[in-house]
Amino acid sequence: MRYASITERLADLGSGKWAVHIEARAMVARGVPVIELTIGEPDIAPDPALLAECIRAMQAGRTRYSNGRGEPAVVKALVGKYRKRRADVTERNILCFPGTQTALFAVMLALVEQGDGVLVGDPYYATYEGVIASTGAHMTPVPLRPEHGFRLQAQDLAAAITPQSRVVLLNSPHNPTGAVLTEADIATIGEVCRKHDLWIVCDEVYEELIFGKPFASPFDNPDLAERAIAVSSISKSHAAPGFRSGWAAGPEEFCSRLLPVSETMLFGVQPFIADMTAMAVSQPFETSTIMRANYTRRAALVCVILGDNGPLRPFMPEGGMFIVVDVSATGLSGAEFATTLLRDKQVAVMPGSSFGVQAENLIRISLTVADDKLEIAASRMADLAEERVAAKDKQLWAS
Ligand SMILES: Cc1ncc(COP(=O)(O)O)c(C=O)c1O
Repeated sequence: MRYASITERLADLGSGKWAVHIEARAMVARGVPVIELTIGEPDIAPDPALLAECIRAMQAGRTRYSNGRGEPAVVKALVGKYRKRRADVTERNILCFPGTQTALFAVMLALVEQGDGVLVGDPYYATYEGVIASTGAHMTPVPLRPEHGFRLQAQDLAAAITPQSRVVLLNSPHNPTGAVLTEADIATIGEVCRKHDLWIVCDEVYEELIFGKPFASPFDNPDLAERAIAVSSISKSHAAPGFRSGWAAGPEEFCSRLLPVSETMLFGVQPFIADMTAMAVSQPFETSTIMRANYTRRAALVCVILGDNGPLRPFMPEGGMFIVVDVSATGLSGAEFATTLLRDKQVAVMPGSSFGVQAENLIRISLTVADDKLEIAASRMADLAEERVAAKDKQLWAS
């Protein structure tokens, strides 16, 4: 039978990136006590009030069809959220989706197609490649450099632009590096985008998980209002990834062109989830405060255990739920280190190669386990690194 080319474009972008995670899960199923630091799943529950609201809404009959834009209450709540950031936002700037991932997929489908290019900072979140490839467009990686705190530099962006470039896909706070763009970064990146008439799509799913620095977004910059689109969800902010509740905020014309795309894909998001999301977005909850405290403390703990002078080089994140570590001094790539760590020390981390060429020498550690477990896992990483360095030295002496 014949298949459409999308199945080939996406064929290598699925489970390959998650091979270590899948192997770890198989080991756990065999009874091996693996410490799993692979995926970014919040380790606390959503606030009980949100669960209660969801159940109340279901029992009150909020189980019927919705509409393509989103239930009025959640759209209103999102207008309230974004109006705090930009005064001219109305419901015509908002569309609801089941999570950031779907929002990204639909947004890309509305902006690019075969022959177009999407510029993405490398390292990048593992699914971006597939989201872009599914439209037929190609991804142009732009290096994110450790010496700039992994923040996209306008000159690197400008150097990567081609006549095919249509969109810059930003992610701040950034997965995997934890980098947070500043207002000044956004202004200079924005200038390049205006000059080359590029859309800016910003994945802001970790907006609430910043460890000190202020949040900045292209969506909030009035000079970029005609080209900036923000996508986000309650997955991380409210520890509610399974609810699949997100949105896109962008220019009015963009949203009205995206609406039929969304209606064709989804025909609306569940009203009971919408009611719960309206509550999540319009009231303060402690969930993100707790996670911020946990993740910043755990990232600092990993930095202390791996140390300044050891072979492993951790990069303290500015936000998000991960920390990346350069393992190159061990003589292993990130993928080799991750595989050896899993098989020899029963600790599962993501190999940097799942996040782009620039991350080949990195591993990504999820901060979503208890401190004591993370401490044990980090000590095992340090042990493996020391063992590798000792083996390398021995080889050098022998030769
Ligand atoms: C950068 C980034 N964007 C999007 C997502 C997916 O978010 P959602 O659950 O809202 O689809 C994730 C999940 O890990 C992520 O790390």
